[in-house]
Amino acid sequence: MDKKVGIVGVASYVPEKILTNFDLEKMVDTSDQWIRERTGISERRIADDDMPTSYLATKAGKRALEDANIKPEELDLIIVSTVTPDQFFPSTACIVQKHLGAANATAFDISAACSGLIYAMSAAEQYIKTGFYKNALIIAADALSKITDWQDRNTCVLFGDGAGAFVLSEVEEGGILSIQMGSDGTGDKQLTCPACFFTPEDEEKRNGKKHTTWMNGGEIFKYAVKIMPYALEKAMDKAGITAEQIDWFVPHQANLRIISVAARKFDVDMDKFIVTLEKFGNTSASSIPIALDISIKSGKIKKGDKLAMAAFGGGLTWGSAVIVL
Ligand code: UT7
Repeated sequence: MDKKVGIVGVASYVPEKILTNFDLEKMVDTSDQWIRERTGISERRIADDDMPTSYLATKAGKRALEDANIKPEELDLIIVSTVTPDQFFPSTACIVQKHLGAANATAFDISAACSGLIYAMSAAEQYIKTGFYKNALIIAADALSKITDWQDRNTCVLFGDGAGAFVLSEVEEGGILSIQMGSDGTGDKQLTCPACFFTPEDEEKRNGKKHTTWMNGGEIFKYAVKIMPYALEKAMDKAGITAEQIDWFVPHQANLRIISVAARKFDVDMDKFIVTLEKFGNTSASSIPIALDISIKSGKIKKGDKLAMAAFGGGLTWGSAVIVL
């Protein structure tokens, strides 16, 4: 029989350097007021030049192992979700494995942009529930600042750097009740950092900037306001749970307006939606574990609470989960 899989450790790490909306006013034609009104973001964290994604990921991973009270050598699996790997190869997960001293783990990366934490959790769940592996560390980490075009006000005001991690193991009670995911590759051009494969048309449109993020903000916004409620609904249906039974919604932290649309759709008070984007901006797939970690540490979210998570992002991709913590 399949084993029950749950989150037994949660942690996050954000770099210390803060970039405020007022700092951005000096860099591009924007204003604190515009950014706050259109996104809800006030500031974000930026990794130092000598801090690659593996640095952020290792910090979060180490803390998650401490939280779970699991030694690095007890890990069977490390999955890192990132769109800003240190190198094309080896995987960032292998670099993290080295730093953690998790000698017995298999390590690999996955790429699903902002939905990556849910994708990683789903993969790890399969290994544990079948008994193939016992303990998995999943980490979502990105240093988006390193691929940001700091002259493009459409994107540079949105993103921040950070990492979040879960340890997954077999549990007796609760755990993951459902995970749902989907992808739509026809939206591949809407949010992208082409780098290695670049068509002449892209070159023209992007003014030669193939190593920085480009986003069709309006299209992604339209996708997000449709897919976030859809994703939540799919995961709740699969778990046989209604919105009223959810203690906390932990959504991807892209834009306060997108989160508000989801809250209105389910007629749920905004207080039930965890919002941390004001301080960290959109940190890609790490935004959910960062939000969860902060809320657990502050005492807001407690063991036994029912959580609904939903993410969307480049790909296009989406993913959602219902979990008893
Ligand atoms: O993880 C997934 C990743 N991405 C997202 O979830 C992003 C989804 N999209 C969004 O959150 C929103 O579309 C944005 C925040 C990116 C943009 O907000 P918007 O309300 O859709 O603005 P808009 O693109 O329709 O632009 C409105 C105006 C435009 O000026 P005009 O043409 O009306 O004169 C923009 O040029 O605001 C202008 N604008 C800005 N003004 C000041 C765009 N960016 C800025 C800016 N500061 N940073």
